[in-house]
Amino acid sequence: MKILVADYIYTPEGFVEYQAVAFDEHIKAVDSLENLLQIYPEAQIIRTEPHSVIYPGFINTHVHLEFSANRTSLQYGSFMPWLDSVIANRDELMQNCDNKMMQEECDNMLRSGITAFGAISSFGTELEVCEKTPQRVVFFNELIGSNAQYADMLYGDFIERLKSSQNCGLESRITPAIAIHSPYSVHPILVQKAVTLAKQNKLPLSAHFLESQAERKWLEKGEGEFKAFFEKYFNTSTPVTNIKEFMHAFDTYPTHFVHCVQATKEELDYLADQGHSIAHCPRSNRYLGCGRLPIETLELPFSVATDGLSSNDSLSIFDELRAALMLHHEMPIQTLASQLIKATTVNAAEILGLNCGKIEADKLADLVVVTLPDMPHNKEDIALWSIIHTKKVSAVYIGGEKVNGK
Ligand code: BEZ
Ligand code: FE2
Repeated sequence: MKILVADYIYTPEGFVEYQAVAFDEHIKAVDSLENLLQIYPEAQIIRTEPHSVIYPGFINTHVHLEFSANRTSLQYGSFMPWLDSVIANRDELMQNCDNKMMQEECDNMLRSGITAFGAISSFGTELEVCEKTPQRVVFFNELIGSNAQYADMLYGDFIERLKSSQNCGLESRITPAIAIHSPYSVHPILVQKAVTLAKQNKLPLSAHFLESQAERKWLEKGEGEFKAFFEKYFNTSTPVTNIKEFMHAFDTYPTHFVHCVQATKEELDYLADQGHSIAHCPRSNRYLGCGRLPIETLELPFSVATDGLSSNDSLSIFDELRAALMLHHEMPIQTLASQLIKATTVNAAEILGLNCGKIEADKLADLVVVTLPDMPHNKEDIALWSIIHTKKVSAVYIGGEKVNGK
């Protein structure tokens, strides 16, 4: 048994002072050190630096590790030129991305306090790294392919990758899952098969959705920048689905939709009614010129995620949260900071179906220590000071064990 003591603890009731957390693999109790020592007299006491805050481990629900080699290869600024550049550079980026590079990015995530992440896997090449990394990984095997001619072959390959992720040992902390690439790139028959499979096996499900204005125009009217793209690469000029048909394919099975920047109020309300959630990727959206998700009016749970280095400059969750503070500049900053902390802990764990994300009894002891440079004057400011000042966290525990990023 360990007892971790800090000036502040982020609990479901807010920030509490002068308390401690007792845990082994799971959290046992949050109470004063004296009370905890009466119940657990043999426990190892771990005292944190002054001005420290204990948070549940942060969760990055959406990242593409396979694209970690990108720095300046891909075209930022606008979605279609970016997608063209992905097609042109994909093979080289994949070749340059080895296990060492992906493990380094997992370590970077760990140093920023990420104890669990959702890995979107196009090819399955990051499975070995995800098995070895100390974090919990929801391994989203991605299904892609709008051309019905290749559907069987692509589905077969997807099933093989899914099976590999289902065969990982318990110690790897991997949860197998399914990702549908997007409405424009997956044939509706494949979408239906994948959703049915997810339902039957209770697998977490995710899909990119309404990321760009170009996607909206293509799905609504069969026009815009995607028309030339599909004519060039797929010899077709009609979309395989539309917005309604795609959304309805997920009815009754809560799905994590990524981006939704170009969704209307009606579409967002529909997603909310169906119990879905959104992964909000502020830097990715800004870098690809996609727009801003209006989180201030959302009525469904959202997480905040980095997306991959294919549309970002780091996989640090605190870099992402600082960007979110800037992007949503009209929101009151303390309220926004509190929402962002909740989005990356409590909400993200519920969305991915993980038994962590909250400091309360019976949750997995995934804990992070953030040390502020000075004492906060008001409890209401702690979330903001944490986001603004944290480049690296001071300590990380996963399943009760201390883990050190290399
Ligand atoms: C497809 O496989 O149909 C596809 C892949 C990437 C972008 C668009 C379509
Ligand atoms: Fe993505």
